[in-house]
Amino acid sequence: MIFKDRFKDKVMILTGAARGIGRATALRAAQEGAKMVLADRLEEQGEETLKMIRDAGGEGIFLPLDLSIEENAQTLVQKAVETYGRVDICVNNAGVMGNPNPVHLLPKEDVDYTFANNFYTVYFCCKYELRQFIEQGDGGVIVNNASIAGMTGLEGNPAYNASKHAVNGLTKNLALDYQRYGIRVNSVNPSGTKTPMVEEAYEYVMKKREAAKAAGVDPKEIANMGGRKRMPIIDRQAEPEEQAAAILFLCSDDASYMTGATLQTDGGWTSF
Ligand SMILES: NC(=O)c1ccc[n+]([C@@H]2O[C@H](COP(=O)([O-])OP(=O)(O)OC[C@H]3O[C@@H](n4cnc5c(N)ncnc54)[C@H](O)[C@@H]3O)[C@@H](O)[C@H]2O)c1
Repeated sequence: MIFKDRFKDKVMILTGAARGIGRATALRAAQEGAKMVLADRLEEQGEETLKMIRDAGGEGIFLPLDLSIEENAQTLVQKAVETYGRVDICVNNAGVMGNPNPVHLLPKEDVDYTFANNFYTVYFCCKYELRQFIEQGDGGVIVNNASIAGMTGLEGNPAYNASKHAVNGLTKNLALDYQRYGIRVNSVNPSGTKTPMVEEAYEYVMKKREAAKAAGVDPKEIANMGGRKRMPIIDRQAEPEEQAAAILFLCSDDASYMTGATLQTDGGWTSF
């Protein structure tokens, strides 16, 4: 292993740990010595991530929590402190694709759902993580998971697009407001990465396109997601482990001069 002890004795909160990028990040952080405080609302798969960590000799706990509920974010931080005495690093990764629809066909409930899970999860977690960091009085690190959709326009899914811009806006604000406490706050901005979220989104769009065709409507009117050809320069999807590597770089002391950064982990997608 390259960075064997990079997070030795560090306590790391990580949300969205049940699968995808969150799981990959949790496994590697634990391998590198972090004590993991994992949360996700998918209980069975979250427990599975914890088992994988323990089987590999790592340490952690898992909490089945819906982090779009403010009290649950508070509980997450409380449990971390009860279990390990402090918190050093927080990765706010939980998120959803939502139901992609252009604005003129987008119900308010779908916007609420997407913001609840993409923006409010991050805001609630940051709120209690920051309070804990301030109380500890010796700095802290936060990495939020946004998206290329937080950097640029992404056709077909305006609620996701806007919610991820909100995550990056919050990240920049937090970097400014909390530097005086020695707290660094950055985000990663992945492009398409091989995770269950992407598989499910693809299936959703395909179903909508078929339904549109059957109804004699131009499918692009209904589900235009991915309709325009914009691709990463590196012509493939990312592996979750490649996103984990970037997240954990920002978590590490190697990124000690980085705050307020919205790091593009997108194979060059947004390099225009
Ligand atoms: N996979 C991609 O292509 C991609 C691209 C850009 C950004 N992202 C972002 O990366 C993050 C991880 O995505 P992923 O691809 O691994 O997706 P995923 O669906 O595989 O994993 C996301 C996890 O977050 C959890 N989650 C969602 N809302 C939650 C809530 N309210 N409370 C608790 N847990 C919750 C889900 O249960 C799931 O386990 C997300 O924020 C996503 O928007 C992913």
